[in-house]
Amino acid sequence: MKLTTEQKAFVEDLLSRMTLEEKIGQMNQESPSIVGGFDVPFEELIEMMTDGRISQEEFGRIMATATQDFHEEDIRAGRVGSMMVNDPRKNNELQKIAVEESRLGIPLIIGFDVIHGFRSVFPIAIGEACSFDDVLFEETARMAARESRAHGINWNFAPMIDAARDSRWGRVSEGPGEDPCLGSRFARAKVRGLQNDRSSLQSYVAACTKHYVAYGACESGRDYNTTSMSVSNLYNVYLPAFRAAMEEGAATVMAAFNDLNGVPCTVNKWLLRDVLKGEMGLEGFVVSDANAIRECVVHGIAEDERDAGIQAVNAGMDMDMGTHIYKDYLQEAVEKGTVPMAVIDEAVRRILSVKVWLGLFENPYVPEADIEAYEKGLPAEHIALCRKAAEESMVLLKNEGALLPLNRKQKISLVGKLADDRNEVCGAWAMAWKPEDCVSIRTGLEAAGADVRYYPCGGPEGELNEEEIARACEEGDVIVAVVGETDAMSGEASSRADTRLPGRQRELLEKLLDSGKPVVTVLMNGRPLALQWEAEHLPAILEAWHLGIRMGDAVAEALLGDVNPSGKLSSSFPAVTGQCPIYYNHPSTGRPGSKSKFTSRYLDAPWDALYPFGHGLSYTSFDYSELRVSEADDALEIAVHLKNTGERAGTEVVQLYIQDVAASLVRPVKELKDYCRLSLAAGEEREIRFSLPKASLGFYDNEGKYRLEDGLFRIFVGGSSRDVLERELRITFA
Ligand code: NOJ
Repeated sequence: MKLTTEQKAFVEDLLSRMTLEEKIGQMNQESPSIVGGFDVPFEELIEMMTDGRISQEEFGRIMATATQDFHEEDIRAGRVGSMMVNDPRKNNELQKIAVEESRLGIPLIIGFDVIHGFRSVFPIAIGEACSFDDVLFEETARMAARESRAHGINWNFAPMIDAARDSRWGRVSEGPGEDPCLGSRFARAKVRGLQNDRSSLQSYVAACTKHYVAYGACESGRDYNTTSMSVSNLYNVYLPAFRAAMEEGAATVMAAFNDLNGVPCTVNKWLLRDVLKGEMGLEGFVVSDANAIRECVVHGIAEDERDAGIQAVNAGMDMDMGTHIYKDYLQEAVEKGTVPMAVIDEAVRRILSVKVWLGLFENPYVPEADIEAYEKGLPAEHIALCRKAAEESMVLLKNEGALLPLNRKQKISLVGKLADDRNEVCGAWAMAWKPEDCVSIRTGLEAAGADVRYYPCGGPEGELNEEEIARACEEGDVIVAVVGETDAMSGEASSRADTRLPGRQRELLEKLLDSGKPVVTVLMNGRPLALQWEAEHLPAILEAWHLGIRMGDAVAEALLGDVNPSGKLSSSFPAVTGQCPIYYNHPSTGRPGSKSKFTSRYLDAPWDALYPFGHGLSYTSFDYSELRVSEADDALEIAVHLKNTGERAGTEVVQLYIQDVAASLVRPVKELKDYCRLSLAAGEEREIRFSLPKASLGFYDNEGKYRLEDGLFRIFVGGSSRDVLERELRITFA
């Protein structure tokens, strides 16, 4: 995000003409408030429904009589800088008030959660990351940017780039998984996709990287819970994706809800001012998460709202999402001198700079033609990209006896409620999909010409129908069971303490297996599940996540062999939940897990992952050989021979890992450093080369300093974090 000299001068001139109230207005984000129909605050109403005091039906009735307040008066008076609205014509109306009726005519920045696509919904991020396809990451973000901008949204609350290693946390679904290297590449590509297509003023949005920071490390995987960690762990694992996003010019950042080592990120001066704005060079602004400034009182870090607001703004929090605390208290705080004017000016300068960079002053409105174009339906190339993304994100976890792919002559009994529910394909945080765009697995199989009959039998919510199960087992040659989680079982506020298949789905699978018919399992879920029993008993398992609107097409193609699965896990899968958090790149222990008693192990579960990071099978096979490593001036040159040894074409993700064998701080047993994705015809072989900058072999210490330490390194290359060739090399950094 770079501004020209003229643009900078424009911002300074505007700033010099603003009253304090107008400045604070820029720092205030509003969402429509629900009014009428009830006499408790809206938040409490939601709570009443969640804890069962009122039913969903009652909630619906109340909402039908309620109206929305879009804060038009405040916008007109210059007391609102940003809105969160998902309605293009309403956005134009609100912009018109801001631009034509407020004293200085400053447009609104309009934000919304466009996490994995807008109307074109792509796979949830943990799934898309399994493609290891940086080009895809960027293309899907670019399409999301165009669709949201055509909807009057110019600021996407994405990418979510929290490293997450504990699948009890429901929000693992929203981010790119457990690894800082993959997470950083994902972050870069997403920022480029959202921000860099400047072919027209309607083609890009401001990215909002979130949640800053270490939200994914919340204790015990319970959402919003506390986070404690060493500085080196923070720098080596949780900050890299944010650093990468800043290097790519991400315009904004959203602070996380959690505290980090005792200080909530919302008021954490060190994190916001020193690290984010100072060291990592954020050029745009920071926004709080929803209601987070007020929550600082509940956190016990602020005595009251006034105190929370003062702490937040002084810590470097530029915009308040949804509490009105800045609006209510900052004027007085500046007058009393508890908040310096320079702090306010800095925040407003940052916010105005993003608005200028977005072109909002020249182009505040969405043309009606753009709105109508998307209302008509999705263009073919959008549908094609949704399908491609879905195809690349599936991971074949197991395929005993080459049960998959099926052939079109087989009679398929399709089982499981999720298989026939097009409303479930998009997953968590999909806010703008339309049912008519969504393809269920059943519809996908039928459209692909499979001989398929459908039997609901049971689903994640607990139901089980014995008669249907008996019929499904009798009538098909092969059973395809679709099991997993509903979209509401992952995402925000959806932590699970038991990450096995929910409901009676395991019982369902047992009954299907009892029939003696071959059972193919398709998983449709938002987190790595604990699959110990499934991995032991089921012959074929395809991890399909929530793949977005074209899920059904992609799953059908994979089952029938029209697409050869190529995804590799972006997160390790535990055997049992008790292993969480679990990740491949854990620090070496003095007693690595083994069969002997006094090692880092469990008495009742394996010590390592069931399916590790990077794992993923194909309908063909790949052979790695001749790993060579040599040292050039600034880089390691690495070459490996790869051959497709099977009988069909396939795509492989070649993964390069290192280990710093002995260092001044304990280092991970393996760390991903690079990867590439390539397709090989049956029998084709190729030499794959990586050039790994020596400067990337270091790590951050507990002072946050980057260190390159001479010594022995191991280099690994292979098709998963567990299955690699290995070389050793002693390196001296000049
Ligand atoms: C809360 C979530 O944590 C965040 O990810 C989201 O962007 C905001 N609310 C706005 O909806």
